[in-house]
Amino acid sequence: MTQAGKHDIEIRDLYKIFGPEAARHVEAVKAGLGKAELNDRHNHVLGLQDINLTIPHGRITVIMGLSGSGKSTLIRHINGLIRPTAGQVLYDGQDVVTMTPAQLRDFRRQKTAMVFQKFALLPHRTVLRNAAYGLTVRGVAEAEDRARHWIGRVGLQGYEDYYPRQLSGGMQQRVGLARALTNDAEILLMDEAFSALDPLIRMDMQAILLELQQELRKTIIFITHDLDEALRLGDKIAILRDGAMEQVGTGQDIVLRPANDYVAEFVREVNRGRIIEARTIAAPAVQGAELPGFTVKARSKLDLVARRMTRAGVSEAQIRDADGGLVGTIDLPAILDAMVNPADAASED
Ligand SMILES: Nc1ncnc2c1ncn2[C@@H]1O[C@H](COP(=O)(O)OP(=O)(O)O)[C@@H](O)[C@H]1O
Ligand SMILES: [Mg+2]
Repeated sequence: MTQAGKHDIEIRDLYKIFGPEAARHVEAVKAGLGKAELNDRHNHVLGLQDINLTIPHGRITVIMGLSGSGKSTLIRHINGLIRPTAGQVLYDGQDVVTMTPAQLRDFRRQKTAMVFQKFALLPHRTVLRNAAYGLTVRGVAEAEDRARHWIGRVGLQGYEDYYPRQLSGGMQQRVGLARALTNDAEILLMDEAFSALDPLIRMDMQAILLELQQELRKTIIFITHDLDEALRLGDKIAILRDGAMEQVGTGQDIVLRPANDYVAEFVREVNRGRIIEARTIAAPAVQGAELPGFTVKARSKLDLVARRMTRAGVSEAQIRDADGGLVGTIDLPAILDAMVNPADAASED
C-alpha cells in the first residue's frame, strides 16, 4: 500500500547513471561508490542516486540545487524523456518507466506540459498560434479560443497577433506559460523557467504563477538554483547535491532545521523574517491568564508581524488561525530572536 494520494507522483529508489554499462554500476553506487570515483574509475556519470520523493497533487514542489546537481535529469524522468537505471516513477499507481511508447506519448501530451528557460516559441507563429499549438496539433476545435483565454490570464491581452521576436523576454515567457496552461495538463514541468529573466521581471512571473496557482491547483514541479525563488514558490522543497537528495521539506523546515552543514550553508543568508510564520514560534497560552488584546494571524510572516506590533505599540499578541482558533501567544523579543540565524548570533555572544 502506498501512502500517496491519487494523482500524486511518487519517485521511488531512483538511480540514473550515464554511460554504456550503467546498469552494471548500480550495486556499487548503492554500496557507496561516489560520483567522482564512478567517473574516475569507470568513466560513467552519476546523475541521480537513491531518490525518493512524493510530489503532491495540486501543490508546487521545487527541486533546487546548483548547476550539475541533477535537477534536469530528475524532471525528465517524470515525463519519461529519461529512463532510470533503476527505480520507479509512479503516477496514479502506474509506473511511467513501464509504459509502452504509445502510453507514454499520451501521458506526456495529455497530463504534462513543459515550460522551458529558453521559451521555445515558434518564431513564425503569432502569440495566439504559439499558445494554441499543442491543442491544434491534437485537433482540438476550440484551440484558439482557449489560447485566447490563457493569453489574457497571463496579462498579454492585445498581443495575440504579435510575433515572439516583437516581445521582451518576460513577455515571451508569459507566452510559454500561456501555452502550457492552454494544454490544460494537470502536471506542469518548469525547468529553470524564470532563470534567464531580469530580477524584477522574474519576480513578476513568480507572482503571476502564484496567483494562477491559487485557483488552478496544478501539480507543479519547478526547478531552480535560486533559494529565494524556491522559498517563495515551493510548498515543498527538495535540495539536490551531486545527484543525491540532501533534504526535503517546507521552506520553514529547511531554514529552521537544515539537515546538514551543506543545507545550513545554503540557507545561511536567508531573510528568516520573511520565511518563518507566527504560528511556528507560538508560545502556549497560559491557562487562566489574560490574553494580549492585539491579534496576529497564524500564517503571517515574522517581519510583518513585528512591524504591525511595533506600529501598534504592543509587545505581545495572541495568534489566531484562519478559523479564529487560538494558536498561542507571541512577543517581540521572541520574534527578534527567531529572525536571527543562530550561527550569526553565536559570534556576537
Ligand atoms: N546525457 C548525459 N550524458 C552524460 N552525463 C550527463 C547527461 N545528462 C546529464 N549528465 C550529467 O549529469 C549530471 C546532472 O546534470 P543535470 O541534470 O543537467 O544537472 P542540473 O540540471 O542540475 O544542472 C551532471 O554531472 C551532467 O554532466
Ligand atoms: Mg538543468
